Amino acid sequence: MVSEKRIKAQLNNVLAKTDFKWLGKREKGKVRDSYIQNNRRILVATDRISAFDVVLGTIPFKGQVLNQLAAFWFEKTRSIVPNHIISVPDPNVMIVHECEQMPLEFVVRGYITGVTKTSAWYNHEKGIRNFCGNLLPEDMKKDQKLKKPILTPTTKMEKHDRPISRDEAIGEGLIDAKSFDECARICFKLYAAGVKEAAKRGLILVDTKYEIGKLNGKFVISDEIHTPDSSRYWFADTYNELFRAGKEQRKLDKEYVREWLVKQGFRGDGKPPVLTQEIRIEAAKRYIQAYELITGCEFKVSNTPIMERVAKALRNI
Ligand SMILES: Nc1ncnc2c1ncn2[C@@H]1O[C@H](COP(=O)(O)OP(=O)(O)OP(=O)(O)O)[C@@H](O)[C@H]1O
Ligand SMILES: [Mg+2]
Repeated sequence: MVSEKRIKAQLNNVLAKTDFKWLGKREKGKVRDSYIQNNRRILVATDRISAFDVVLGTIPFKGQVLNQLAAFWFEKTRSIVPNHIISVPDPNVMIVHECEQMPLEFVVRGYITGVTKTSAWYNHEKGIRNFCGNLLPEDMKKDQKLKKPILTPTTKMEKHDRPISRDEAIGEGLIDAKSFDECARICFKLYAAGVKEAAKRGLILVDTKYEIGKLNGKFVISDEIHTPDSSRYWFADTYNELFRAGKEQRKLDKEYVREWLVKQGFRGDGKPPVLTQEIRIEAAKRYIQAYELITGCEFKVSNTPIMERVAKALRNI
């Protein structure tokens, strides 16, 4: 585990934004900067953190955690579904095949939880029982396990993601039925594999979001996979006890920051609160812990200034 002292030393050595002119056209996502070159995309995972679709600031080492965890899971799942990876030339960088992205984010949930407006629990509490085409029981408790995993897609490429059902997505012409069903099949398979692997490490993969792209006419899994930004993870050993007592789960994901924001009265509208040094350090610890628990490997940090290191790795690619 990286020491608190080392995390503190990194507070001002974060990758907030990049502008590598020699790589060509840059597309700025909330978390990653992409450079698009013909058929490939250079995905630079910065240390930016977003929640409720808003960029809030930076968390030391976050980009490295996300990139290396995504690389880990892409490797683990490649026999199930092909993915977009070409190479990982730096801890913060992934070179991928440029795909034609489906205009949906495929969210798979095994449990009902969450505080964001697109989360299953938030909607259930508001009285919604048909969530993205899934009929949910009347009486449910927060964090309850669902009878079987459900798919709750959201739209992509709109300012705020919007929950949508299979039939609505097809009706709106976002995707055809055959493609949707094939994507759904892929997502359930990946989720089942993720759940199984996470269980070996004492973790529950609660829910997760997939982005599927098309490459040479075939579906491939793209973007990131099973990272703490795209997924919720809870500790398995305390799940039952906490659930029965109606207490919060022990979490290993971005929900920690989301809940802090909600406590400050922020749910995505208006000006976000400034992240304090304490929350940045605590979040960094959790991201690093997530990396180590999930992969079973030590998180290795570099002492070269991050911008210098990343730029160097991208000089001759
Ligand atoms: N193989 C790929 N081909 C084409 N686009 C991709 C591929 N992999 C990822 N992308 C896109 O690259 C971008 C990655 O940036 P990022 O995730 O930071 O953006 P975002 O989705 O706006 O932010 P957030 O994830 O916080 O909602 C996304 O738009 C994603 O859809
Ligand atoms: Mg994204």
